[in-house]
Amino acid sequence: MIYGAILAGGVGSRMQNTDIPKQFLELDGKPIIIHTLEKMLMNDRLDVVYIGINPSWLSFCEDLVKKNGCASDRVRIVAGGADRNGTIINIINDIKAHATVTDEDIIVTHDAVRPFLTQRIIDDNIDAAIKHGACDTVVKASDTIVRSEGGDFITEIPDRKPLYQGQTPQSFKINLLQKCFDEMTEEESAILTDACKICVLKGYPVALVEGEVLNFKITTVGDYQMARAMLLIK
Ligand code: CTP
Repeated sequence: MIYGAILAGGVGSRMQNTDIPKQFLELDGKPIIIHTLEKMLMNDRLDVVYIGINPSWLSFCEDLVKKNGCASDRVRIVAGGADRNGTIINIINDIKAHATVTDEDIIVTHDAVRPFLTQRIIDDNIDAAIKHGACDTVVKASDTIVRSEGGDFITEIPDRKPLYQGQTPQSFKINLLQKCFDEMTEEESAILTDACKICVLKGYPVALVEGEVLNFKITTVGDYQMARAMLLIK
């Protein structure tokens, strides 16, 4: 089985001037999370698509999915966790409560607030997770990356060539990811928010999948304005 997992457990604290989590803001007359859900549902290789939603917004999200004609046996909505990995863990627990997970079963995890996901990126993620066990979607760093300890002066300007910016989806064989989560110490759980980083630290290969600049994450008001502008010129 191949599962989609839309991570929507956050509240969007860096998005100001809004009373609702950013995944519910509208783009072109439809909430961001619905755009993301539709992109996932469009891909027939995903057997079930999960949404891990902030628990305070669970029934709101269920209504929204229904209202937008997306409710079906293929969509499951569960409560998200205290952090991003907690949301992934809750989704995996629900998968395990409903099915026997084999070593070949895959989870394609994706930020709810990256609505410009493409079918090519989903397909490449599935293929890479099947082949390598884990993969991350990335784009080559186009700006020079400057490292500064303390934020006042430059500590280092690393060579840009081997640097990439991480996006999502991040996709995994479910049992491999579960093993990585199980092996984490409490201190690691507190600081490691990126599931691919956990796999790398545990010594598992994580393949790169080519992302798209337009598959950006809506984090700030500026990102939201850019997303709205993109839809105007489509
Ligand atoms: N996320 C999640 N569960 C959490 C926290 C975050 O599933 N407990 C999800 C968010 O909903 C988002 C994605 O992870 O789709 C990327 O995180 P980010 O952009 O940081 O979202 P928020 O945590 O909502 O934003 P902020 O950090 O500004 O509060």
